[in-house]
Amino acid sequence: MSWVSSYFASSVGKKSVMALTGLSLVGFLVVHLVGNINMLIGSDAFNHYSHFLLSFEGIYVLEAVLAALFLLHAFFGLMIAFQNSQARPDSYSVQTKSGRGTTFASSTMPYTGTIILIFLILHLFDLKFGEHYSVPNEEGVRDIYKLVLVYFSKPLHVAWYIIAMISLAIHTSHGFWSAFQTLGFSHPKYDGFLRKSSIAYAVLVGAGFSFFAIWAYLQHGGNV
Ligand code: HEM
Repeated sequence: MSWVSSYFASSVGKKSVMALTGLSLVGFLVVHLVGNINMLIGSDAFNHYSHFLLSFEGIYVLEAVLAALFLLHAFFGLMIAFQNSQARPDSYSVQTKSGRGTTFASSTMPYTGTIILIFLILHLFDLKFGEHYSVPNEEGVRDIYKLVLVYFSKPLHVAWYIIAMISLAIHTSHGFWSAFQTLGFSHPKYDGFLRKSSIAYAVLVGAGFSFFAIWAYLQHGGNV
């Protein structure tokens, strides 16, 4: 076994991959959330923003990196959860991490993570690879704004997004803090700050994305 495979087989190796991919995804979500603000400006702003991003030459490389981050994070996360359940078949919820005890968020990481994974597959299927509306008189510009309004005109879609966003908030409220612990930022001096930042981040993404789903619902499909 080479040092690379033994590193990834070790608990420290897997947790470091989780921490680095998780923090990169934390960054992606902020960019995505900020990008969604274009929706509030209007259809032109949102459609042109999306068109601008997708016509960027290196976009396929960026999308491949993003997909790899999600896949690695999900794969190692499920592997750690499986190994934990093998080690403690009857007591997943009473484990202690470095003697710090567990919280609701830490003990439900595999479940909230699985909901997010299902959410993401459906999200890409429904929006990125969903119905292709075109902007009239603008060749090659997709009317992604219309697709979002049509999609969220169904209350069930909005309800599902809110459930998924609550899961995302719970997941990141622990994940954000835990990633810094894994990477060695565990000094008691910064712990309070990191915990508060984790909660603030979780509330921002959870409430922020839910807000867009509700806002889009209130546009009644843009009267299409
Ligand atoms: C109300 C909430 C959200 C809305 C309205 C929204 C909207 C969109 C839209 C319209 C696209 C397609 C962009 C395009 O093809 O031009 C997209 C792509 C994507 N979204 Fe979301 N999104 C939301 C929440 C999320 C969340 C919570 C995640 C992750 C957990 C996420 C992850 C992604 C990813 C990975 C892509 C593909 C990026 C790419 O390669 O183009 N989205 N989103």
